[in-house]
Amino acid sequence: MLQIKTDVVIVGAGLAGIYTALNIDSHKRVDIVVKESLIVTNSNLAQGGIAGELDFIQENIDAHIEDTLKAGSYLNNKEAVKILVTEASENINKLMKFQVAFDRDESGDILLTKEGGHSTRRILHSGGDATGKDIMEALKNECYTRENIHIHEDMMALDLLYQENTCFGVCCLAKGTEVIEFIAQSTILATGGIGNIYGSTTNSAIATSDGIGMAYRANIELENLEFIQFHPTAFHNEYSKSRFKFLISEALRGEGAYLINSEGERFMKKYTPLLELAPRDKVSQAIYREMYDTWTDHVYLDTKHLGEEFLKNRFPTIYKHLKEENIIMGKDLIPVSPVQHFNVGGIKVNLDGLTSMKNLYANGECASNGVHGANRLASNSLLECVVFGNRIANKINEKISKNINYDSNITEYHSYKYNYKPIKKKLGLTMDEYVGIVRTKEGLLFAKKIIVKMEKNLLKYPNNSKAYYEALNMVQTALIIINSASLRKESIGCHYRLN
Ligand code: SIN
Repeated sequence: MLQIKTDVVIVGAGLAGIYTALNIDSHKRVDIVVKESLIVTNSNLAQGGIAGELDFIQENIDAHIEDTLKAGSYLNNKEAVKILVTEASENINKLMKFQVAFDRDESGDILLTKEGGHSTRRILHSGGDATGKDIMEALKNECYTRENIHIHEDMMALDLLYQENTCFGVCCLAKGTEVIEFIAQSTILATGGIGNIYGSTTNSAIATSDGIGMAYRANIELENLEFIQFHPTAFHNEYSKSRFKFLISEALRGEGAYLINSEGERFMKKYTPLLELAPRDKVSQAIYREMYDTWTDHVYLDTKHLGEEFLKNRFPTIYKHLKEENIIMGKDLIPVSPVQHFNVGGIKVNLDGLTSMKNLYANGECASNGVHGANRLASNSLLECVVFGNRIANKINEKISKNINYDSNITEYHSYKYNYKPIKKKLGLTMDEYVGIVRTKEGLLFAKKIIVKMEKNLLKYPNNSKAYYEALNMVQTALIIINSASLRKESIGCHYRLN
């Protein structure tokens, strides 16, 4: 078995991983384990933007803090929220130094937009609705200029290497066949989302909760896994069998799009005076209710009053996608429905991204520093990745590099080519039906029964393959979500209990 000794190993190459890597001192060796390729991440798919106050005007800072707390039903860690908002400017400016070109007007001023739950325009965007893609492109190019950063594509992280409560790195599978151990002074989990646990998600196909699965198997503390955010407006294509649903950015509602039901009624006024720009949990729950009441599986976004020309320039990615679906923005109604979008909880970390295990950090969607409370405010997720990535890097930069020795005790199993698709499909259907926007005691119990069996079977027949570990990570995370959802009996944020 090959062993690679390094200062820092990062699992995941979305914004949370790459930005952290770029902030680590150049004399430290950094290895980034990438499941597929640098362009296949959830961060690449982010449309809306990155929230942040660039000028330190107390009133604006306070408003961003309050909007974040309000969206999170005040279940947030207030200290984490303060850090998120006050360290935004430093990190967004750093993104610009890395050549991220946020959209500007003719006089060179940065253009700002609004999304649900924001009381002012404070969201920066790039390429109109291609913010994630543009940020990742710039950071990827910066990464290639750094000699200390080593990128390993087509490599699946299988399990953490640890003894007692100290992390020594991670065991990986390269190109589906070769087991490689990274022995590291510091390990960072930045594996992103959990979307593929559900049957419909805006997440990339690689989002299979790998970090949470690995952390769970290493007895690391997890928290708030019941809070699964459903994005209100994924494109509803009734012919598509794909788990992946194309996102129609909330920024479209920020620019004035309405939601209407199958009867043509603008319904949000029945639910909240904030209408279409209420926080995402409230809008998704309202749409769920409307779909139920109208015996229909979608509602519509109405953009006719905004004009095709404006929409084509402001939202080029969405315009192009919808045109391929024979829908013209500004002319036709856009069918949408809520689908899984973001995992609010995750691996419990402190304000410097340290988990409950020594030398192990977590950042981004797989981590939980309490910043989002019971529901995330729109466009705070890219911000979280950079602010807390920078803090993790600062902590790691304080360490004096030393040689780490670790005797492997990993058992290598035979590798079968099974694809585990039947189990993944059944898991998605079960989670959509019983662990979705609205949950009941009976539904959660029923789902648990089914998924416990899946876990038992997977553990009985271990397999050294990427598909096996993905299925195991998904099933184990699903059970943690169900257990957390069963324990939280009240409805709060994006966790809605009918009984
Ligand atoms: C969106 O553009 O609607 C998604 C942005 C986010 O998840 O914050």
